[in-house]
Amino acid sequence: MDQPALLEMRGISKEFPGVKALDNVNLTVRAGTVHALMGENGAGKSTLMKCLFGIYSKDSGTITLDGKEINFKSSKEALENGVAMVHQELNQALTRTVKDNLWLGRYPKIGGLMVSERIMDKRTKEIFDTLEVHVNPNAVMSTMPVSQRQMVEIAKAVSYDSKIIVFDEPTSSLTETEVEHLFRIINMLKEKGCGIIYISHKMEEILRISDDVTIMRDGQWVATRPAKELTMDEIIKLMVGRELTNRFPPKTNKPGEVILDVEHIAGKYTRLKDATFQLHKGEILGIAGLDGSGRTEVLENLFGAMTREGGTIKLHGKEIQNRNPREAIKNGFALLTEERRATGIFGIRDIRDNTVISSLKDYLLGGICLSNKKMTEKTAWSIQAMHIKTPSQKTQIRSLSGGNQQKVIIGRWLLTKPEVLLLDEPTRGIDVGAKYEIYQLIIDLANEGKGVVMVSSEMPELLGVCDRIIVMSGGQVAGEVDAKNTSQEEILTLAAKYV
Ligand SMILES: Nc1ncnc2c1ncn2[C@@H]1O[C@H](COP(=O)(O)OP(=O)(O)OP(=O)(O)O)[C@@H](O)[C@H]1O
Ligand SMILES: [Mg+2]
Repeated sequence: MDQPALLEMRGISKEFPGVKALDNVNLTVRAGTVHALMGENGAGKSTLMKCLFGIYSKDSGTITLDGKEINFKSSKEALENGVAMVHQELNQALTRTVKDNLWLGRYPKIGGLMVSERIMDKRTKEIFDTLEVHVNPNAVMSTMPVSQRQMVEIAKAVSYDSKIIVFDEPTSSLTETEVEHLFRIINMLKEKGCGIIYISHKMEEILRISDDVTIMRDGQWVATRPAKELTMDEIIKLMVGRELTNRFPPKTNKPGEVILDVEHIAGKYTRLKDATFQLHKGEILGIAGLDGSGRTEVLENLFGAMTREGGTIKLHGKEIQNRNPREAIKNGFALLTEERRATGIFGIRDIRDNTVISSLKDYLLGGICLSNKKMTEKTAWSIQAMHIKTPSQKTQIRSLSGGNQQKVIIGRWLLTKPEVLLLDEPTRGIDVGAKYEIYQLIIDLANEGKGVVMVSSEMPELLGVCDRIIVMSGGQVAGEVDAKNTSQEEILTLAAKYV
């Protein structure tokens, strides 16, 4: 620990109605280093950062930056005084251009009055050039994929020339190449002497890029150690407070007869060129492949979320169309999308509303009104099964931590009792302990006779949970492997087949 402390947070506490989100937390970040902040969903990581960034006001404690005590009242003040943050939830003006989003609230003005487009263009180019970000500054945000929007957000945070930059789960929607890009940017910032605070649930990332690691549990500080003295198992143990001997539950499901027969489906205007496979009753089928190989498109195609071009889908031997999601839901399909936070949340409604919204017909009393009792029961099941951390069912979903919001949405889809469950990156942004619970739920569903198709970028997860895995490459199925008798190498070789 030779570098000097740049940021010192001492004894920080913060309470929300019914929740002690932070209890006397300490964090010391040294100049020129990456400090990882780890903990389960709801441990208080984002809250601690929001106290630093002026979004929340802390109840007690002190924060010093470069030896001077600070207490920002707004994020604007934080940005102007050397602290920037890339948020867990993207909060961008989607109808505006990249350039607008970059300069919103700080447009370069001539003589303090007129906005200068010329200076704005010049500075935008400078920023993008230094960071090697290849995005059209005049593109409208809503037309861009999330990963690129995330890169814009990162460029924006970096452009403030801050001393401290917080990245709150920056990589959850980035492709592998973009993650490498972000790591190059972070190294550049380190060399400039910035202090980086990095929040992620991806252990491999943490061990790769951080110098120090602080672990939090239930709003409290647990430990701070140099990253090179920690192993993945030790971090997990400190995070969950007990030894987690197995990362995967025992596989008890037994695949039966074929329920779904998919032949040569292809998508219009998408990367999916040709997919053929079968899904059995009680089976968990994995879909592996590199980013852009058409994995997500297979699920969207089956669910009718995109235009199909050719191919057939048979459910129990009978051809079905699934022309749109509504028809798919009627046929017993459910899709958990990759981008849950953006597409699935009714922010100002409570947890119960968000849980029951897709299975309302199950709670009808005499076909007229909804049974409060049933809705409350099902929501209680979801909160318990998924270990959702919340003071009550009446809590607004937007006040939950990011990971816990996702769990609510997963519970919502499980309650629709689908026959075919399509899961896109089901554990992204979810902590290790809760991952186990989700794997268990997936296996339970298979045991009940459901067919599950699961896309994941995490190879160990596919190997640990699935029965069979199909590997996509360049929009086609490159091969199929038995999850028990395959290796990461075999899957990677197949994934590269048509690239
Ligand atoms: N605005 C708010 N109102 C009420 N409770 C809140 C609010 N913001 C956070 N909380 C609560 O504070 C606790 C800590 O949440 P926080 O978002 O800091 O967790 P986190 O560690 O970032 O988790 P994740 O990994 O899921 O993002 C949670 O119990 C959450 O429900
Ligand atoms: Mg968070």
